[in-house]
Formats: sequence, structure tokens, C-alpha cells
Amino acid sequence: TSGELAGASEKSGFSTRKAFIFAAIGSAVGLGNIWRFPYVAYEGGGGAFLVPYLVALLLAGIPMLFLDYAMGHRYRGSAPLAFRRISKRGEWFGWWQVLITVVIGIYYPAIIAWAIRYTGFSVDKAWGSDPEAFLFGDFLRAAETPGPTLDVVPGVLIPMVVVWVVTLGVLALGVQAGIGRTAIIFIPALVIAFAILVVVALTLPGASVGLNALFSPDWSALAEPGVWVSAFGQIFFSLSVGFGIMITYASYVGRKTDLTGSGAVVAFSNSSFELLAGLGVFAVLGFLASSSGQPVDEVVAQGIGLAFVAFPAILNEAPAGVLLGVLFFGSLVVAGLTSLISIVEVGISAIRDKTGAGRVAATMIIGLPMAVVSCVLLGTTGGLYVLDTVDNFINSFGILLVAALSMLAIGWVWRRLRPLADHMNVHSSIRLGAWWRVLVAALVPLVLVVMLVLELVDN
Ligand code: PFF
Repeated sequence: TSGELAGASEKSGFSTRKAFIFAAIGSAVGLGNIWRFPYVAYEGGGGAFLVPYLVALLLAGIPMLFLDYAMGHRYRGSAPLAFRRISKRGEWFGWWQVLITVVIGIYYPAIIAWAIRYTGFSVDKAWGSDPEAFLFGDFLRAAETPGPTLDVVPGVLIPMVVVWVVTLGVLALGVQAGIGRTAIIFIPALVIAFAILVVVALTLPGASVGLNALFSPDWSALAEPGVWVSAFGQIFFSLSVGFGIMITYASYVGRKTDLTGSGAVVAFSNSSFELLAGLGVFAVLGFLASSSGQPVDEVVAQGIGLAFVAFPAILNEAPAGVLLGVLFFGSLVVAGLTSLISIVEVGISAIRDKTGAGRVAATMIIGLPMAVVSCVLLGTTGGLYVLDTVDNFINSFGILLVAALSMLAIGWVWRRLRPLADHMNVHSSIRLGAWWRVLVAALVPLVLVVMLVLELVDN
């Protein structure tokens, strides 16, 4: 009955479908789109990467998004509660997802903090003539030495504290007044800023060199299991599926909402933004390559340093460098914040459902320890070394493996796919038929497991 299914999260939800869609886009569009996608795509075969990317999106990303929505909406709870309402023995899947968001929530703010610093540096060009020897370059070199050292990197700690204060403040305001309203303001601003950035970037001399590098396909990449794993990992991370986020957000949505239609809007917006970011970033890299005479792959090879080492070098040279810098790093900050909000909300809603704590109390119970660990660990030089390792591990085993296991359990052990599809189909514009059950219960878990095994063997 609905009384039995009313969790703590029932009391206050999104007041409109628009708020939900914006919040979901806010979660999906983040650092993963702007900072992660371009180099993952480039490393994964450039234009050829679009094949595994689209396969992962259509086969796994969107069907999983629908599963997350169905679970949150049908069982009206945070991830642990939604799983628990299926089976007592399922609750740990939800807590596992909470754990993953806690880990991501510890390193994600550091990148936002860097972006805040670099927004300011864009104006005064504080990185001078050699950005590699500047702050982030030092950070990267220090990070290559394993083991945390406790020298606080100057200038990152304060923006990190600011990021946490803003995030926890928004979350304490609640689902509609905090999460919904922030997304409705930030997301349109982000789209406008980023569109201007891309237009300016495309007019830079040499832009086409970069676009060629991004889109010229290296088909041999398709034979590497690692490329497929990273495409699936990118889709899951980018769409925020498999983390309990979409379960949580869907539990706040009114009963009569068309969730599949909303999901299609979210997925389409997310991938469009991702491709747009790829265009913008590579146009700018092409400019650097052609003005400095370096080959594009040397410019891109910097992985996580791409944004903070290659970009500053470009901004020194480019016409409208200040504008480009402020738009680029400012977009990172805004996109990152709305995602971080969703990441922390997973734990908050889980704590509320488990303990009955109020929103503000739950925000502090989980948010403060996360903030402290995050600031101490990532405000220090050893943090980045941890970040890279953790990011890889989390993506393959933390997310993909557990996603596969939970799909198998929901499909075969608890046999819930048909009732979940029936629930969705009442108010849905896309019918979840047999195709969806086959994908979720069989094809996707199979593909994920095979990929992970191949990758293990490969390494
Ligand atoms: N989807 C976000 C991005 O692309 O940056 C990141 C993210 C948000 C990952 C929420 C995981 C998550 F639970």
C-alpha cells in the first residue's frame, strides 16, 4: 500500500516535472562531460570511440536509467531502502552505491576547487609563460610520488571549503528549494556559457586540426576490450546511472510523471553536451597544436592535466583568451557543483530513510565527515595519486560489476522487471516491453561481465 511505501523522502519532493528534469540534467552534466569525455574519447580511438559510446548509451545507459527511475519511483526510497523493499538481502546493493558516491564525493570537489582557482587565473594569467611549472603541474609531479604527504597545496583548500559550504547549504534547503531551484538557475546559464565558448573555440585558427584528431577514427581501438570498458564506464559515470542517484531523484517525483520521456530528454541533453564539450575542447587543442607546432597527440596526452596544463598554455596565446578561460573554467565549476549536489544527496536520503533523521541533521551527519576527509586528503599533494587509481578502480569494479550483479538479482532472483515495467508503463511515453527486460536481465549484465573478465585477462 502507499502508506507502507512512504519513506522519509516522500514528504518533500520536486514540485514540477521541469524541476526534476533540470536536476537530473544537473547531475548528469558534470566534470565527466567537460573534463573526462574528451580525453577518454581521444584515447579510445577518436571517431571510432563513438561506436562503443553509442552502443553503451543505447544498450546499457538508457535502459539502466529507466531501471533506476523505476526503482526509485515504485519503491519511493533512497537506494538502500528501494533495494530493501524488493528484498532484505538486497539492501547492501544500495549501501554499496552509497559508498561509491562517498568515494566520488571526496575527490570530485577537488577538481571543482581547481577550476575555481583557474577561473581567477584566467583573468590575471597567473600561470605565466610556463603553465606546466605552475600550480597544477607541481601538483601532478608531487602526485607521481605515491603516499600522501601533508603539505597543503596553497590555494586549493579555501575553494574546497567554499565548494562544500555551498553544496551542503543547497542540500540543507531541501529537494525543491535547494536541488531543484539551483538546477533551474544553473543549467540554462551553463548551456549559454558553454555555447559561447564553443562558438569562439571553433573560430580559432587551427580548430579543424583538433577536430580532425578527435574524429578521425582509429578502428583498431574497437578490438581492445579496455576501450569498451571505458566507453561503458564513461556512459555510466556521465549519465549518473548505477550510483543510486537516479533512484534517489526518482523517489522525489510525483506519481503521474512520464519518467521514460523525461529520461530520454536527460540522456539526449547529456550526450549533446558531451559532444559539444568534445568539439570545444578539441578545437582549442587544435589551435595550440598548430600555433606551437606540436602534434595534437602530445597536447592531449596529458590526461587529467588536460584542463589545467594544456588549457592555460592555450589561453596565453589565443585571441579572447580571458573570455575563453573564464567561460571554460566557470562552466566546469557550475557543471561540477550541480553534480556534486546529487552525489551527496544519495547518502543524505539513505541516512534519512534509515534513521528517520531530518534533512538538516542528515546533511550534517554525512556531509561534514565527507567534507573534512575531502579537504584533508585532496587539499594535500598526495591526493591526486589516489584519485587516478581510485577513479579507474571505481569505474570498472565499483560501478560496472555491481550494476551487473544487481540487474541479475532484480531480473532472475527477485523477478521484479515485469512489475517495474508495468509501473512505468502507466504514465510512460516509451513502452518498456520485452526488449527492455532482455537488455536489463541478460544482455547488459552479460556484456559487462565479459568485458570486465577480458580486461582482467588483458592486464
Ligand atoms: N555525471 C557526473 C559527471 O558526468 O560529471 C558525475 C557523477 C554525478 C557521477 C553523480 C556519479 C554520480 F553519482
